Amino acid sequence: MVRLFIPILLGTAREGRRTENAARFVFEQAKKDGRFKTRFLDVRDFVMIPKTDGAVSEEKSKEWKEIVTRADGLIIVSPEYNHGYPGELKLMLDQLYDEYNRKPAAICGTGAGMGGARMVEALRMSLVEFQMVPIRTAVYFSNIKTLFDENGKIKDESYGERLKKLFDELVWYAEALKVAREKK
Ligand SMILES: Cc1cc2nc3c(=O)[nH]c(=O)nc-3n(C[C@H](O)[C@H](O)[C@H](O)COP(=O)(O)O)c2cc1C
Repeated sequence: MVRLFIPILLGTAREGRRTENAARFVFEQAKKDGRFKTRFLDVRDFVMIPKTDGAVSEEKSKEWKEIVTRADGLIIVSPEYNHGYPGELKLMLDQLYDEYNRKPAAICGTGAGMGGARMVEALRMSLVEFQMVPIRTAVYFSNIKTLFDENGKIKDESYGERLKKLFDELVWYAEALKVAREKK
């Protein structure tokens, strides 16, 4: 029986974002893997960029809180913008705190060259502050501009195997931390 719920969050609201292809691919692979229940979340649906408190509406903020409360971990798929992660992703994450505690997080990066490696490092530091457990394995979607065809299909099938390794580690932590959280 699948007991785990790990949503997948697309972390950029940019018009024309190529990272959406990567996030949809991660979502499809997670469903195929089947070891955890998942849901596709888009930062656009939860964040209004000009508002400093971040939320689109109280209702969406409440929904995000309910999702994270129920979640046993989180997968974030985000581009690298000037070696950092998008501001809208930070606004979305900053709406909550306790709900993230003691849950694992995996990051998939995208970038023009190195697949968002520097963004992954930067985001991990913030996730630690949320008392999350960022896992070591990350997937780097490099050369994102040419990695997907015009229908959004990935050209390099090896990314499926890379994601399996990420899921292996994430599920291990998600199960262990769920037991530990429920023991207290
Ligand atoms: C403001 C901005 C900054 C960027 N900085 C970087 C960067 O530091 N490193 C990198 O590999 N790509 C960088 N890129 C390229 C993005 O990785 C590229 O746009 C890619 O398609 C993924 O982002 P997207 O989902 O917004 O399309 C940057 C793009 C933008 C719009």
